[in-house]
Amino acid sequence: MKEIDWKNLSFGYQKTDYNVRINYRNGAWGELEVSSSEEINMHMAATCLHYGQEAFEGLKAYRGKDGKIRVFRLEANAERLQSTCQGILMPELPTERFREAVLKVVKLNERFIPPYESGATLYIRPLLIGMTAQVGVHPATEYMFIIFVTPVGPYFKGGFSTNPYVIIREFDRAAPLGTGIYKVGGNYAASLRANKMAHDLGYSCEFYLDAKEKKYIDECGAANFFGIKDNTYVTPKSTSILPSITNKSLIQLAQDMGLKVERRPVGEEELATFEEAGACGTAAVISPISKIDDLENKKSYVISKDGKPGPWSTKLYNKLRAIQYGDESDPYGWVTVLD
Ligand code: PLP
Ligand code: COI
Repeated sequence: MKEIDWKNLSFGYQKTDYNVRINYRNGAWGELEVSSSEEINMHMAATCLHYGQEAFEGLKAYRGKDGKIRVFRLEANAERLQSTCQGILMPELPTERFREAVLKVVKLNERFIPPYESGATLYIRPLLIGMTAQVGVHPATEYMFIIFVTPVGPYFKGGFSTNPYVIIREFDRAAPLGTGIYKVGGNYAASLRANKMAHDLGYSCEFYLDAKEKKYIDECGAANFFGIKDNTYVTPKSTSILPSITNKSLIQLAQDMGLKVERRPVGEEELATFEEAGACGTAAVISPISKIDDLENKKSYVISKDGKPGPWSTKLYNKLRAIQYGDESDPYGWVTVLD
C-alpha cells in the first residue's frame, strides 16, 4: 500500500479494503456481508436513483494515544437513521445491526485509521438505498444498507480556525415541513447551488435562514449553528434543520461547564450580539465563525474581532476531542471502544 500522508489528508474519499452490506428482502434484513468491491450492482429503475429513496449517516472512529480505537455515539447515529427511515418510508435497521456493521467495517479497515498525532480520523459513511425496480412513486420493497469508511482530515482547510460565512437567500435547503430534519441525499442536492454561490463569492460556506420567513437562523452548510453570549450557549430550534449529534453533545458539555443552554428560534439580527459562534457537525467538529455577511441587506456580523476562535469554543472543542480520542473519561457512555 502506498504510504498515506496522514497529516495532510483532506476531507475526501479514498479506497479502503472492505465495505459491509446488509440486504433487506421479503420483509426482513439479511446477514451482514463483507465486500471488497467499491461498486454496487443495481437496476436502473431502482427507487434510490429516481425518487431519492436514499438516506445516509456520518460518524467517526478515532485512534487514541493508548492505541485503542473508539467510535463516537454510534447508537445516536443508528437512531437518527431510523428516524430518517420513518421520514421517507424505508424499513428501519435495528440499532444492534447498525452497531454490528459499524464495528465490523472499522475493524476490517483498521490499517486506515489515522494515528493519534495526525489529528485525522476514519470517517464512517453508512447509507441505505431503495433497490426495487419500479416507476410508480411509492416506496421500494427491497433495500441495501452499506457502510464504507475512508480516512479524512479537516472539513475546512486549517482545521480549528475561524471561517467566513454568507447568508444565501436565493436557494433553500429544506422547507419547514420537508425533509430537512432527515439525512436524505435530496437535501444535499438542494444545497449545491447555495454552496457554490458562497464559494464563488469567496466564503467558506453558505448560511441558511428559515425558508418560510427568511428571518431565523437555520444551519450553516452541512452543520448546525451555535452562538455564545452572556454565559449562554444558544442554538436554533427549527423544523428544517438536521438534529446534529455533535450539537447535542456540545449542549451537554456546555451545561457541564456551567453555561446556560437555550434552544429556540434565533432571529438573524441576534447574530450581532454573539461573542462567539461556530458550525458544528461530525465533519466540521467545531468550525468557529469569523463573520457572517448578509450581502442583500449590506450587513456584516463580525463575530471574532481578532480572527481567532473564542475561549468557550476552544474549551468545548478540546473537551469533545478529548472524549472522542479517549484522553479524558467518557461520563455519558458516548464512546464504543473496539475489542
Ligand atoms: N446539519 C447537516 C445538514 C449535516 O449534514 C450534518 C452532518 O451530519 C450536521 C448538521 C451535523 O450533524 P452531526 O453532528 O450529527 O454530524
Ligand atoms: C457529517 O458531518 O457527517 C456530514 O454528513 C457532513 C457532510 C455531508 C460531509
